[in-house]
Amino acid sequence: MGRKLWLLLIVGVFTAYYIYTPVPENFEEPWKLMWLNAPMKVVLHLATFAEFLGLGHFVDIITSALNTDEVPTSDENVTVTQTKFDDVPVFVYVPKRKSEAPRRAVFYIHGGGWCIGDAASPFYDLLSRWTAERLDAVVVSTNYRLAPKYHFPVQFEDVYSALKWFLQEDILKKYGVNPKRIGVSGDSAGGNLAAAVALQLLHDTNVKIKLKIQALIYPALQPLDFDSPSYQENTHMPVLSRSLMIRFWSEYFTTDRSLEEAMLSKRHVPAQWGHLFQFVNWSSLLPERYVKGHVYHDPTYGSVHLSKKYPGFLDIRAAPLLAEDDKLRGLPLTYVLTCQHDVLRDDGIMYVTRLRNAGVPVTHNHVEDGMHGALSFLKLKISYRLIKEYISWLKENL
Ligand SMILES: *[C@@H]1O[C@H](CO)[C@@H](O)[C@H](O)[C@H]1NC(C)=O
Ligand SMILES: *[C@@H]1O[C@H](CO)[C@@H](O)[C@H](O)[C@H]1NC(C)=O
Repeated sequence: MGRKLWLLLIVGVFTAYYIYTPVPENFEEPWKLMWLNAPMKVVLHLATFAEFLGLGHFVDIITSALNTDEVPTSDENVTVTQTKFDDVPVFVYVPKRKSEAPRRAVFYIHGGGWCIGDAASPFYDLLSRWTAERLDAVVVSTNYRLAPKYHFPVQFEDVYSALKWFLQEDILKKYGVNPKRIGVSGDSAGGNLAAAVALQLLHDTNVKIKLKIQALIYPALQPLDFDSPSYQENTHMPVLSRSLMIRFWSEYFTTDRSLEEAMLSKRHVPAQWGHLFQFVNWSSLLPERYVKGHVYHDPTYGSVHLSKKYPGFLDIRAAPLLAEDDKLRGLPLTYVLTCQHDVLRDDGIMYVTRLRNAGVPVTHNHVEDGMHGALSFLKLKISYRLIKEYISWLKENL
């Protein structure tokens, strides 16, 4: 074979490798998803390789590939303002049309594994704009400082400070918000932060104004058990693999890779914290149809050293699913969206069970043909369908 032919063959194999990703049969637009996933696959591999060569931190390389310079601007229907709530940068979306009564408000927290993502990115901008417009609501879309530069509890505290700032009577008045109709919402790591701040606020006696709802879109809720059926079934699923999720969790607490290694080999939790496994016990908390043939194995334990150094991963502000029943009681009406083909599916479903056991009213929207990040793929039909379902739930319940 000639040299050109060889070259063509090599390029062809690489292209096929990056484009072809096995996806479940019930995906509506499998080839389109593969096509959209290919650049992400390339970026992840490049980042892993560059980090291996010592050229930079994995997350920094991904961030530089994803960076958006766009800043949300006002349009004919919505006024967008960039401001700070207690030093935390936020965008505020206010509908332009006149309103007779004070409006509802959604405080939105973007996802990205506590490491990446930006409220200014096109998807979050669009979601906030549509929520403001279709709900006739004020939307606050917050940013927060990210890993690897900042670790827990910085992300949590930034979001909580901004939320508390917003929940002051004079601030709500300024934006024309009805203090009885405010909700928090977020997706993925943002869903984690939304659940965490809702829980913190419930027990914070210094804040008088409380939430009416919390909406959690495929949230990450616990870093103890990475072998739930959904983690096992979706180990290599596009967008979010098991290993990437574990990397995100460990980066939330530290850049020291020994925590990640311990998480991968199930040695991060010391025996003295073994009682926490009851709160993430999928054998008792998942309905049978999600457990299917999976067999629950008792947890394995490691030394106390890591949990002493990085106590964050046992903290309910990072892992709301680890909260005791008493702590969950009294949480506001909750919407949980889970996707069948998502490592985080069982985190969400276990939270649904635990909230209901604690007497919290929950709407569970389980998406059989969904994968992690489904709302944000604006080139796929599923995105519009799920955004519509989410916004109509808010319309009825907020
Ligand atoms: C503004 O609202 C109108 C009426 O709902 C809609 O047709 C139009 O597309 C909106 N404009 C933008 C920029 O979204
Ligand atoms: C998990 O639940 C199963 C079934 O209810 C039970 O047999 C097992 O002891 C539980 N394990 C832990 C660690 O909570």
